[in-house]
Amino acid sequence: MDERSPRRLTREPRLVGLDTLDRAALAAEAAAGLCERPARLAPKFFYDALGSRLFEAITALDAYYLTRTERAIFDAHGRAIAAAVLARTGAAPVMVDLGAGNGEKAARLFPLLAPRRYFAVDIALEHLRDALLARQREHPAVEMVGVGQDFSREFSLPAAIGAPRSLVFYPGSSIGNFAPEDALRLLRQARAVAAGGALLIGVDLVKPAPLLEAAYDDELGVTAAFNLNVLCHLNRLLGADFAPRGWLHRARFDGDAARVEMHLEARAAVTVRWRGGERAFAAGERIHTENSYKWTVEAFAALLRDAGYAQPRHWSDAAGWFAVFVADA
Ligand code: AVJ
Repeated sequence: MDERSPRRLTREPRLVGLDTLDRAALAAEAAAGLCERPARLAPKFFYDALGSRLFEAITALDAYYLTRTERAIFDAHGRAIAAAVLARTGAAPVMVDLGAGNGEKAARLFPLLAPRRYFAVDIALEHLRDALLARQREHPAVEMVGVGQDFSREFSLPAAIGAPRSLVFYPGSSIGNFAPEDALRLLRQARAVAAGGALLIGVDLVKPAPLLEAAYDDELGVTAAFNLNVLCHLNRLLGADFAPRGWLHRARFDGDAARVEMHLEARAAVTVRWRGGERAFAAGERIHTENSYKWTVEAFAALLRDAGYAQPRHWSDAAGWFAVFVADA
């Protein structure tokens, strides 16, 4: 085809829906979690179309220091970080973005990394499709592929679409959603995908409880809306009858476990019903919706080594609130 043909000028991102995104399986998983004692839901259930937007709103909050602190680290040290990555992947790497969201974090690094291909992996396929269309218009030279995948259970790319010496990009401290043993498993799987390349990962660090709790219980109630929205998502996914006004947002830092926990607490006794099941909640009873683990630099470097990575290096902000690691896969 002619280089100047309209098809070439309006390049479209490819979308690959991996079959792990099975709605029936997700619904069954959510229902099973609601029936556990205590009830719990995996954080991936936050990310329906509205949940993805509410998370983006969270990242704009003053109290939610994570996103802007990570961005400041990239702004200050981007060249050194990119040099560490490219020394391992070679020029024009294949970039695999885990939990890509709107893809903006990766796109900010495109000028430094100049990837030839960009794989955006996310469970929220609808949101990903819209976001990738926008990213593709801004970066016509990068070949973009959206991959709908629930990588929280099992992360791999079909050999046909992966590439050796890739960069796996996992920003935003999303690794914090995993307990240490699960983080270890995911990092090992990421290492197999990077196949001799590099990992670039953002990690939130342990800090005083009031700072952490303000970040997860903001004054405007955006995080509360994000947490409560999971109930709306379950109403659609399961045909459940949750009334979000009947539930309270709770966020608290557990220093021993080094994690912020989010819960939804029933204001009054209620029985929730859905297709094929129900659960009675007493007043004050909770659904555990998220863990967000915080690490020390030393403990995270040790985790990377345990997962088989070599030479973990990190960059941090002056206050030591957040760290960006590069490690050889
Ligand atoms: C997307 C998992 C990094 O844990 O900080 C934000 C999600 N939860 N506010 C985090 C979240 C509440 C966020 N991660």
